[in-house]
Amino acid sequence: MGQTRITVLCENTAVGIFGLLGEHGFSALVEKDGRSLLFDTGQGHTLAHNMRYLGLGGRTVDGIALSHGHYDHVGGLADALIQNGGARITAHPAVLGAKYTRRKTAAGQKDTYIGMPHDRAFLEDTLGASFQFVSECRQILPGMYFSGEVPRVTDFESSDPGMMVHTESGMEQDPLADDASLLLETESGPVVLLGCAHAGTVNVLRHFREQTGHTRFHAIIGGTHLGFLNDEKQLEQTMLALEDYGLELVAVSHCTGQYAAAAFLRRFGSRFAFAGAGWSAVF
Ligand SMILES: [Fe+2]
Ligand SMILES: [Fe+2]
Repeated sequence: MGQTRITVLCENTAVGIFGLLGEHGFSALVEKDGRSLLFDTGQGHTLAHNMRYLGLGGRTVDGIALSHGHYDHVGGLADALIQNGGARITAHPAVLGAKYTRRKTAAGQKDTYIGMPHDRAFLEDTLGASFQFVSECRQILPGMYFSGEVPRVTDFESSDPGMMVHTESGMEQDPLADDASLLLETESGPVVLLGCAHAGTVNVLRHFREQTGHTRFHAIIGGTHLGFLNDEKQLEQTMLALEDYGLELVAVSHCTGQYAAAAFLRRFGSRFAFAGAGWSAVF
């Protein structure tokens, strides 16, 4: 097995040097044993730009995997397909759902569309997308596993009540069955790459433990959604439960938010990192 490199391409903040831009969103490039996988694509404002400024302009990938169908993870899909000349896209079928966020306003409540900004036919017919819809844990490239649907098992990881989806029966709470993560087998041990972890970070690790037989994980990288949940108890119990997995690196991003990231820093100390745009690590 050769080295695995993970590079964050899009994130809320830019931590790399010279010219990188931040946007609310997430995207990372995985390079392993001569294969590469693009995990999420950000909103679409910074992917192509940041790839150029990271020396990755024109780089093609062997596939794309989507963590879920929110705009801040799939908005750059068109740019990614154009740069790549089409691609096989692995995602849960619910990724194409009509997703909304419900927020309270002075006038009551307001639903705002936060789903895929592109039409499926446009992605397939014009830009060369080939969707591979996957609901179960599956190896999509050598040593790279897509989680599929993650069972909600823990009693302290709640779903976000503001996440909605419009179905044939109207607007309902979005179960976010499409929320998926990656497990990468590396020379340092298994590394888990999270999009937003709407399923709950600990649920994701439990699922990979059951599906792959790995009991300890070298690192988690990405969004934990704890910033939006704003739940002190969930934050504390998540950090406590993570101790069972032997993590040597906790590299949070995106929807973790600054408050929860600071709590992770206090708890994990030298094992903590903030994985903004331009952050890269070799395992
Ligand atoms: Fe999300
Ligand atoms: Fe997100």
